[in-house]
Amino acid sequence: MTETTVIPVSGPPAYDVLVGRGLLADLSAVLPPAAAKVLVIHAPPLAAKAEALREQLAGRVEVLLAEVPDAEGAKRIEVAAFCWQIMGQTDFTRTDAVVGLGGGATTDLAGFVAATWLRGVPVIQVPTTVLGMVDAAVGGKTGINTAEGKNLVGAFWAPAAVVVDLDLLEGLPQNEILAGFAEVVKCGFIADPAILELLEADVTVATDRESPVFRELIERSIRVKATVVSDDFTEQGRREILNYGHTLGHAIEHAERYRWRHGAAISIGMVFAAELSHLAGSLPAEQVDRTRRILASLTLPTGYPLGRWKTLLATMQRDKKARAGMLRFIVLDDVARPRVLNGTDESMLFAAYQEVGE
Ligand code: GLY
Repeated sequence: MTETTVIPVSGPPAYDVLVGRGLLADLSAVLPPAAAKVLVIHAPPLAAKAEALREQLAGRVEVLLAEVPDAEGAKRIEVAAFCWQIMGQTDFTRTDAVVGLGGGATTDLAGFVAATWLRGVPVIQVPTTVLGMVDAAVGGKTGINTAEGKNLVGAFWAPAAVVVDLDLLEGLPQNEILAGFAEVVKCGFIADPAILELLEADVTVATDRESPVFRELIERSIRVKATVVSDDFTEQGRREILNYGHTLGHAIEHAERYRWRHGAAISIGMVFAAELSHLAGSLPAEQVDRTRRILASLTLPTGYPLGRWKTLLATMQRDKKARAGMLRFIVLDDVARPRVLNGTDESMLFAAYQEVGE
């Protein structure tokens, strides 16, 4: 096993994100001492790993397995009810613990199930994708979707620990890894320019999951997220900067009926946000070019059909209305200098989109 990096997140409640290799084999080290049962919520491709976990923890705790649909199919009330049923039938108590083993959708569901059972039981998040490691599993946003939209039901529920075992990325298609890197790029632009320099130095090495640079990028991105959510767990202010590129990105995901990878939509959203930052703020043009160059080096898309603007704008306006707010964007005054842009006029938004449209 390689050395483990510990990245603390302040609370309340405080917890650690552990980053290393082979960590799943030692999960008992992070289980709450009082837990007698553990419910492992996992997607079908992780069945063998969940079973291995059951064998590993046998004797220490009773392990229950809840296999849930892959990807967004997990984030449904019926799936949460299936997990609650297992917990009800096994007298799952407040000192027992949930483990979320999977990508962002699985850990969102597992966090939600943990947040709601008996008004809250501990959850240990074990992300198995880059997106999950650097974003979804850290920070305690949990939730499910409804017919009306994504993440409309949920809770802020901090995990007891997050275990980032880089060995769990083995076997993932490289385009899945690259899509997760959109969030890594985001962390570079909003807070940590060293991330951008490492990507620019050699993107092949940076995205090789065996390389130390890959690990450094994952750790740096987690540190960005950990710092932000330590300051503002419930998104009263600073946490909003994590939405850089996401306002348009979410509208593209909606337009594509959620068949696109999140990272691909966010990639286009970041190009738009960079153009808007140039028009509405002081982001130098070379940083807009740099945004495109880095995303393209990761084979992520940087353009979207020009004719879709009206639909995208309507979706963004509807989303914001649901939160009784104005259309808000995170823009950069420079690299690592994000701020909120409020009430922007539509002509400026369209001007920025024209640079994205193809
Ligand atoms: N994914 C954005 C956040 O956790 O706030």
